[in-house]
Amino acid sequence: MNNPLEQEFERHFGKSSGPFIHSRAPGRVNLIGEHTDYNDGFVFPIAIDRFTALLAKARPDRKVRLFSSTQNELAEFSVADVVAKDAPKWSLYAKGVAEALRQRGLVKFGIDALITTTVPIGGGLSSSASFEVATGLALLAANGKTLDKVELALAAQWAEHNYAGMPCGIMDQFISALGEKDHAMLLDCRDLSRRQVPMKDEHMRIFIANTNVKHELVQGEYQARRNQCERAVALLKKKFPAVKALRDADISMLEACRMDMDPTVFRRGRHVISENARTLKFAEAMAAGDWAACGQLMYQSHESLRDDYGVSCPELNVLVEIAATVPGVYGARMTGGGFGGSIVAMVRREAIEGLTAEIDKRYPERCGKQASMFATIAGAGAELL
Ligand code: GLA
Repeated sequence: MNNPLEQEFERHFGKSSGPFIHSRAPGRVNLIGEHTDYNDGFVFPIAIDRFTALLAKARPDRKVRLFSSTQNELAEFSVADVVAKDAPKWSLYAKGVAEALRQRGLVKFGIDALITTTVPIGGGLSSSASFEVATGLALLAANGKTLDKVELALAAQWAEHNYAGMPCGIMDQFISALGEKDHAMLLDCRDLSRRQVPMKDEHMRIFIANTNVKHELVQGEYQARRNQCERAVALLKKKFPAVKALRDADISMLEACRMDMDPTVFRRGRHVISENARTLKFAEAMAAGDWAACGQLMYQSHESLRDDYGVSCPELNVLVEIAATVPGVYGARMTGGGFGGSIVAMVRREAIEGLTAEIDKRYPERCGKQASMFATIAGAGAELL
């Protein structure tokens, strides 16, 4: 007797011989290091224990059929030639990855696949990256191919840029592909070197609260921040020719260029430079088990994102403010691109109940809606099961 997912697969695609392929890739939460990845900087995310999964079978032809259980919709495309960039919108993530792998000569056969996810969609927890990476793994398996996980992450990022139209950095796809259980990853986005920092502590939990809002213009604002960072680099370069990215500058260098800079560009630069420094400090504090120091850095990160980088929103600020009043919360900040999505907090285990109750009570009073919350551990990266 097949399990319920296999039965659902057969309802959509019929019965066929051949083994099931089961791939899954996690969402992520970034502990600190926000809007630094596309500035050659440092990020410090964990993979969460929530996943996008594909239950798939290889096809004998070049067709791909995907059924999304969250959208309740079927998408069909061909990998015989350049993959079409057409609707439905959710399918573009998969199409982009299929095209990236096809260009590498790794995809000759298509798949039928049922897609399920436990990553909240649009919650700032990288549901799209998890979908891209899980799709890549299933396509590779169906074609009897393997690909280095770093290459897989880059293929997924390429999909995001070229098919989904989001000019993202490398963080989300990278942690989804390469996360390690019970570890946070300090990633240097310049050369992709990384250090896995253990973060298992019985008394500490990572807590996520989703604002359940996603403001429009996210992609436009994201692109605008990238442009402002490039502008800051161009101005810094005039005085300091060695500066290739904001990663190469410190605050005193930025101050030396202040007169030549638009005040907004200055503030954007100040966020990125200070955030890189906070991220390195945070990794040290975490390695030392100094949660109080980690928490302070999280609050500082939030203030910098709110005031200097301009990517927070009232709902995120309210959640961080509420969290800060609850005993046992070490720190909290917005996580991900901003303009909605989620906050991440570091909390003592026994504080979770109080924090949940407080947010349940005060967030609707102030924002007129409920937040969704859960605690997570640092989970494993993408895998075939
Ligand atoms: C989004 C992008 C990432 C990163 C974050 C901000 O999640 O996909 O690459 O830039 O925003 O840190």
